[in-house]
Amino acid sequence: MNGGQFATSDFGGNLMFGLKIRVSGAKLRAIDTLRANVMIADADLKITYMNASVKSLLAEVETELKAELPRFSMETLLGSNIDVFHKNPSYQRDMLAKLTKPHNATIRVGGHAFDLLVTPLMKGGRPEGFVVEWSNAKERLLNTDYRNQMEAISRGQAMIDHRAAPQAHPPLPHPRNGKRQLPL
Ligand code: HEM
Repeated sequence: MNGGQFATSDFGGNLMFGLKIRVSGAKLRAIDTLRANVMIADADLKITYMNASVKSLLAEVETELKAELPRFSMETLLGSNIDVFHKNPSYQRDMLAKLTKPHNATIRVGGHAFDLLVTPLMKGGRPEGFVVEWSNAKERLLNTDYRNQMEAISRGQAMIDHRAAPQAHPPLPHPRNGKRQLPL
């Protein structure tokens, strides 16, 4: 592969890099076999490539995505402009135009959450396209929830221990009558 150069697909299954240098079948198949979910858009923000993993990731949730984004369809996704999926496309356009390094984001759509890693494919100081690695954020968020719950449990435990501590002391004698009393 031509180290980090702009990649496009000619829709006939040939992935092109830089000045339309054809990537050999083996390299193209390698990207297609990755478990990483890879999507590429060109400088106009038109989706020019999706590997097999991203296709199945999105196909699994197509119905839910469609409910929120009626223009979302696996049939037409390749070749679509991403503007149609963004509520306020100028926000993404501005952000992408200024991007010079990878950007992490978590998006929520159709009841699903995805972690995106958006990397500009720079040429001559300008982005010539964008590669996006998608991952389903469900497991990460479940783990975060689990971690929060564990932290809450240990906080709760600490609170119980803290409350339990004074009762562990024997009743104190009253300063005037000397009778033993429980701490307040
Ligand atoms: C290569 C293709 C794509 C690029 C470069 C891209 C880029 C971005 C960026 C930069 C953000 C903003 C992240 C932030 O706020 O930090 C975003 C948000 C979002 N993207 Fe995309 N995106 C792409 C494809 C898609 C597709 C195919 C969908 C359809 C499901 C989509 C749906 C969303 C949604 C729902 C948000 C949340 C904000 C909003 O609704 O506008 N994106 N995207």
